[in-house]
Amino acid sequence: MTVVVIGGTGHIGSFLVPRLVEAGHHVICVSRRQRSPYVSHDAWKRVEHAVIDRGRAESEGQFGRAIAALVPDIVVDLTCYTVESATQLAEALTGRVAHFLHCGTIWVHGPGGAVPTTEDEPRRPFGDYGRRKAAIERYLIDVTKHGSLPGTVLHPGHLVGPGWMPINPAGNFDVKVFDDLGSGRLVRLPQPGTATLHHVHVDDVAQAFVQAIAHPEASIGESFHVVSPRAMTMSEYADQMADWFGTGPTLQWLPYAEWRADVSERDAAITLDHIQHSSNCSIDKARDRLAYVPRYSSLAAVQESVTRWMRDRTPRPA
Ligand SMILES: NC(=O)c1ccc[n+]([C@@H]2O[C@H](COP(=O)([O-])OP(=O)(O)OC[C@H]3O[C@@H](n4cnc5c(N)ncnc54)[C@H](OP(=O)(O)O)[C@@H]3O)[C@@H](O)[C@H]2O)c1
Repeated sequence: MTVVVIGGTGHIGSFLVPRLVEAGHHVICVSRRQRSPYVSHDAWKRVEHAVIDRGRAESEGQFGRAIAALVPDIVVDLTCYTVESATQLAEALTGRVAHFLHCGTIWVHGPGGAVPTTEDEPRRPFGDYGRRKAAIERYLIDVTKHGSLPGTVLHPGHLVGPGWMPINPAGNFDVKVFDDLGSGRLVRLPQPGTATLHHVHVDDVAQAFVQAIAHPEASIGESFHVVSPRAMTMSEYADQMADWFGTGPTLQWLPYAEWRADVSERDAAITLDHIQHSSNCSIDKARDRLAYVPRYSSLAAVQESVTRWMRDRTPRPA
């Protein structure tokens, strides 16, 4: 099958594209070719590239047509953030593809409800990103029901992988939190430590896309969470990382308003978003219907990423 992966050199695509090639697909990767995949793999030698600037092509009304012109059997869209963008693509692909897969996010869920959250939970997104992703999901599931496009939506958690820092126990990307935990220095963290984070290794996300493609009868018309087997509380995460570093936890939990005085506006906002979402999603549906078996726990994924980051910044002997 010819599989077009839109945004195939990013976090997820770096792992998904090689898996698709190894599964025997002819892969066409769509990007501006401004970056290389996060990890090298021999499979990339067998990948075709289509250089298209999505933003520019969409504004000219040409993006959907450009993707259709690649004559795909299957399209995986990793970089869609508005329902207008989804609509342009879906309309151009109507009647032309066997399967269309969209990358969503667990933030289509707002807070509350029973946990772990299941896919059939009513959507109560908050924030621009979650609302837009929920609108895309609703649109794609609806057009699938009406027979226009055979769509599937996969909702990853907080992406973790080699080459970038994962969300830390403070719920943001500040590397100093890991540094301080690793050095046994006092780490100030925002309450409540009971807020949950739900990470996922990008190779597990790639696995889920491959499984969804391999099982169209089970995946078309459906949404699936793609996360690690269990979410972590921020408190458990901090303790476990300190244990792993061998430093023991030296933590001070502060009310959010007090904690934020010492961090950047950006980090404070990212943390608040994670605390308010307090994601904790079920993978039962993906496990039962797609045979999705994540290889990484949240902690194992984070530890792999942090290990690599520490190794890469350590000066090598001359
Ligand atoms: N980050 C998270 O923790 C998280 C969590 C849940 C869900 N998600 C979802 O995951 C998806 C993002 O996946 P990702 O993190 O793997 O993506 P990513 O790393 O941001 O990769 C972006 C890809 O798109 C290409 N690209 C960027 N701008 C483009 C443009 N204007 N035209 C054509 N190609 C363009 C990039 O290559 P070039 O730059 O070379 O063009 C690259 O291949 C999104 O749908 C997001 O909602 C992310």
